Amino acid sequence: MRPLVELDHLGKVYSTRTGDVVALQDVSLTIDEGEFVAVVGPSGCGKTTLLKILANLEEHTHGVGILGAKELGGGRSSDVGMVFQKATLLPWLDILANVLLPVTLERRATPADKETALGLLRMVGLEDFARKRPNELSGGMQQRAAICRALVHEPSLLLMDEPFGALDAMTRDALNVEVNRIWRETHKTAVLITHSIPEAVFLAERVIVMSPRPGRIVEEISIPFGKERTLELMGTAEFAALCARIRRHFEVSAA
Ligand SMILES: Nc1ncnc2c1ncn2[C@@H]1O[C@H](COP(=O)(O)OP(=O)(O)O)[C@@H](O)[C@H]1O
Ligand SMILES: [Mg+2]
Repeated sequence: MRPLVELDHLGKVYSTRTGDVVALQDVSLTIDEGEFVAVVGPSGCGKTTLLKILANLEEHTHGVGILGAKELGGGRSSDVGMVFQKATLLPWLDILANVLLPVTLERRATPADKETALGLLRMVGLEDFARKRPNELSGGMQQRAAICRALVHEPSLLLMDEPFGALDAMTRDALNVEVNRIWRETHKTAVLITHSIPEAVFLAERVIVMSPRPGRIVEEISIPFGKERTLELMGTAEFAALCARIRRHFEVSAA
């Protein structure tokens, strides 16, 4: 497998009015093409900062980061799609136009772009909602549309920052199954940030555990369940053991 992301002793210090904030320290991490990685860590440990650096929305201050063949930083637009906790769809555009937004911000959408967008909507079961407005969709449906929007320009890296944190537990389970399927069908490289340890173990091939701020990697755990995941997995002893192993880090840091 070729690495898509290579972070070498990456660090980030925010300079603020009241002094420096070390958000990330010595983060060294390689993510292979097609891999699904989840990052878990306490609030404020720099998870969002890490995603923003990968998306070139924020510049690191230490070390080196590479995405594809390019070095991160310098404000170049990068080859990523991003899903946030809130769907942030534009209320005055229909779902199809919302999904096409990353394309239409750059140029006029072609019929081929529309086909791509409709294909993604079909993949998540929203083909009948292409002409609806966001407020006509449930929270879970809006988040599905946001995933389509993140994929429409065919980025090599899909970044998700607490994408299902605002949804109820049943919707969240359904979307986790869906994200697993989307990942398998699109062969994307994916990085998921989540507060939910079971969600991380359910979706990822590797879970990165971060320490409280300044965020450092304290453990990397391979998840040996193969690519296709079903909800029954969550009831197995092996699943519970992996969750317990990750949770132990946070019990220690909370003490
Ligand atoms: N733009 C910013 N300016 C100054 N400090 C920031 C900024 N963004 C985040 N921080 C600080 O950096 C740390 C990590 O933040 P963040 O990456 O959002 O953590 P997480 O997503 O893990 O909760 C926090 O202490 C936060 O207050
Ligand atoms: Mg965050």
